[in-house]
Amino acid sequence: MPHPSFDRILLTGAAGGLGKILRERLKPFTRVLRLSDIAPMEAASGPAEELHPCDLADKQAVDELVAGCDAIVHFGGVSTEHSFETVLGPNICGTYHLYEAARRHGVKRVIFASSNHVIGFHKQSETLDAASPRRPDSYYGLSKSFGEDLATFYFDRYGIETLSIRIGSSFPEPQNVRMLSTWLSYDDLTQLVERGLHCEAIGHTVVYGASANANTWWDNRLAAHLGYQPKDSSEPFRAQVMAHPQPAADDPLRVYQGGAFVVAGPFEG
Ligand SMILES: NC(=O)c1ccc[n+]([C@@H]2O[C@H](COP(=O)([O-])OP(=O)(O)OC[C@H]3O[C@@H](n4cnc5c(N)ncnc54)[C@H](O)[C@@H]3O)[C@@H](O)[C@H]2O)c1
Repeated sequence: MPHPSFDRILLTGAAGGLGKILRERLKPFTRVLRLSDIAPMEAASGPAEELHPCDLADKQAVDELVAGCDAIVHFGGVSTEHSFETVLGPNICGTYHLYEAARRHGVKRVIFASSNHVIGFHKQSETLDAASPRRPDSYYGLSKSFGEDLATFYFDRYGIETLSIRIGSSFPEPQNVRMLSTWLSYDDLTQLVERGLHCEAIGHTVVYGASANANTWWDNRLAAHLGYQPKDSSEPFRAQVMAHPQPAADDPLRVYQGGAFVVAGPFEG
């Protein structure tokens, strides 16, 4: 096996849906994979894995988590819409804690699991690129938007490079008509993370995390330097998705890029 390019990669969110996928797929790139989550994780499979449970909201704990790592793949945090108070600790403070720890410990590369929900209030009739104005659709989307701003700041100020992947819908299969446009296969997700780790001089690059779907809303030409070439497409799933009853034409799932997130909340009481 070729020599891995990193000594120790930190994966946050390792107990989550995508974390479990990346736990297997990051191994070729690093001598040791440090796995972290607030939720229970499967035991380490051998010396190439180490478990380090941590609450991202705890600044001191995150500082200790990052020590000794040379790259961070940040997939931990609240991954759906909740009250601002719920999102604040893990996502807003947590991502700040990670960048501060990266600065203190000399980590130079971060892969950030951003989200389509930073642009969710754009209509599905629009085609966006990485320079399009953000229109967060939720407190969750706002937290990811702040994470992207942190990435820009920590590059401009401290030279820490980040790939922010605005993940569409990364599941085994697209589950509804919206996901025919937003679906990201696990293989294409893995390729994006790999590109983010290995591509030189990325500064802070924003890429839309979607497979080569026929009905796309997103143009990745501003991230062309990554060399990302998606291999999968939602098209083979179209017939099975369309066989189900479809939402009305004015349903947010059919109107907004962020789908149902645009009508979540308010969160009171
Ligand atoms: N799956 C998708 O389609 C999708 C789309 C857009 C963005 N994302 C982003 O990708 C990442 C992974 O998504 P996922 O689908 O695997 O979500 P997930 O909810 O399955 O995983 C997130 C993990 O973060 C952990 N976590 C939550 N709060 C924490 C805290 N305070 N400290 C430490 N860990 C904490 C959870 O325990 C969980 O295991 C998330 O950041 C999510 O926002 C995913």
